[in-house]
Amino acid sequence: MRPARLMKVFITRRIPPEGIAALSRAADCEVEQWDSDEPIPDKELERGLAGAHGLLCLLSDRVDKRLLDATGANLKVISTMSVGVDHLALDEIKKRGIRVGYTPDVLTDTTAELAVSLLLTTCRRLPEAIEEVKNGGWTSWKPLWMCGYGLTQSTVGIIGLGRIGQAIARRLKPFGVQKFLYTGRQPRPEEAAEFQAEFVSVPQLAAQSDFIVVTCSLTPATRGLCNKDLFQKMKKTAVFVNISRGDVVNQDDLYQALASGQIAAAGLDVTTPEPLPTNHPLLTLKNCVILPHIGSATYRTRNTMSLLAANNLLAGLRGEPMPSELKL
Ligand code: GLV
Repeated sequence: MRPARLMKVFITRRIPPEGIAALSRAADCEVEQWDSDEPIPDKELERGLAGAHGLLCLLSDRVDKRLLDATGANLKVISTMSVGVDHLALDEIKKRGIRVGYTPDVLTDTTAELAVSLLLTTCRRLPEAIEEVKNGGWTSWKPLWMCGYGLTQSTVGIIGLGRIGQAIARRLKPFGVQKFLYTGRQPRPEEAAEFQAEFVSVPQLAAQSDFIVVTCSLTPATRGLCNKDLFQKMKKTAVFVNISRGDVVNQDDLYQALASGQIAAAGLDVTTPEPLPTNHPLLTLKNCVILPHIGSATYRTRNTMSLLAANNLLAGLRGEPMPSELKL
């Protein structure tokens, strides 16, 4: 028997099959979806969300005061298919007593794998090397050609030794990294012990690291953290990798640092904006490798994320404990 009053759920995009199946099975919900792989236009989102009890959204959907006002007082749960929550106006959400679900843990390994791939791709100059094979630049085996930087005996600095930062360190260790440094809100001696990682200040990390990997979340404290000051302190031979959020980096400063040879190279899985316009100056640089925010992009992980997002939403709507609820 169908419940007398169905809860309205709105999904802002096509999502992997397990999540959509779980929501479709829920007899107490009426599900509406923006049935496209492309982002929903603002007007459609407002229309679809009007009167909704639950929202399942992505990191590319900005949920701000204006949208919350337009949605109305029915909204009880927002479930984002991401670990990052910087796209959500958390103060406004908290004020309205709305619960938030997110998808930590299930993407940690996949994202760490991508971070290591991006680091190696960048420091060993793989895109440039592949291009040289195609364009005839490969004329002979040359002792000084296409040299990069390796991880053996290196110092790796991690900005944000959270779940993903630790998973990256765990994967990098067997490459022969000599020393791990990390920085963040406070020391994490228990987590750091596994890598004998040393807690240092941001300037110390910048000055001593051969590789810097940014994995922290985007907060007012980390916005623009990687700027001219940091790049100026880095070694000329150092490689910078960001898999967190584009806004942690001042991209103009990064461009200057890369173009002037102040640092050796950068690998970015995240940019501001996303997508990065194809005429962006960073794309003209050979020593900058840019990926389209694919940290968690394996079929299995995205499927798991969609199921967790669906289960968070359903539990929240039913007033039950969510599998992964954000503490507000
Ligand atoms: C990816 O960036 C995520 O927040 O899930």
